[in-house]
Amino acid sequence: MKRRSSPRSLQFCFAALVSLSASAVAADFKVDASKIPEASKKTVDFVKDIQPLFEASCVKCHGGEKPKHGYSMETREATVKGGKSTTPGLVEGASAKSLIVQLIAEAVDDPDYFMPPPDNREKYPALTKEQIGLVRAWIDQGAKWPSGLTLKAAKPK
Ligand code: HEC
Repeated sequence: MKRRSSPRSLQFCFAALVSLSASAVAADFKVDASKIPEASKKTVDFVKDIQPLFEASCVKCHGGEKPKHGYSMETREATVKGGKSTTPGLVEGASAKSLIVQLIAEAVDDPDYFMPPPDNREKYPALTKEQIGLVRAWIDQGAKWPSGLTLKAAKPK
């Protein structure tokens, strides 16, 4: 009778576990689209309307050397690209399908991914429905971002 797994099969088990947990990321969310607020009708100006929101509520964690979940929002390129999940951060022209919108609207089925994280909203305020509407309009209007502009975290209140 075989009592113990050989080291090789243990190693295999471990590798399988690691790859399982690595795949259990944002890409697997179920999204309740009815929770996503309407897009604003306004023509959005990134610097005036969006940059202050990202700098107050996101960039402290999603910036610097080790951004949370491998997701940096310091540059347009990084913000679009996304982090550890296989889903892009945003899809130009398709705000309701964009991960950042789904997370800030709390429309995903995993509260660990509500952004900013609910346990820290005194420091990093949640976005209002109107602000989420502006983020949506910004994405729908092509996610324009002045070239070379790098965001910096605002000082938390
Ligand atoms: C206090 C730190 C913190 C703040 C502030 C924060 N996040 Fe996050 N974010 C995290 C953590 C931690 C995770 C990983 C969640 C997990 O593993 O449960 C994450 C994950 C994400 C992801 C998934 C990235 C990927 O592709 O893997 C996105 C997108 C995201 N956040 C967007 C935002 C946006 C947009 C804001 C601002 C409105 C924001 N976050 C504010 C900590 C933060």
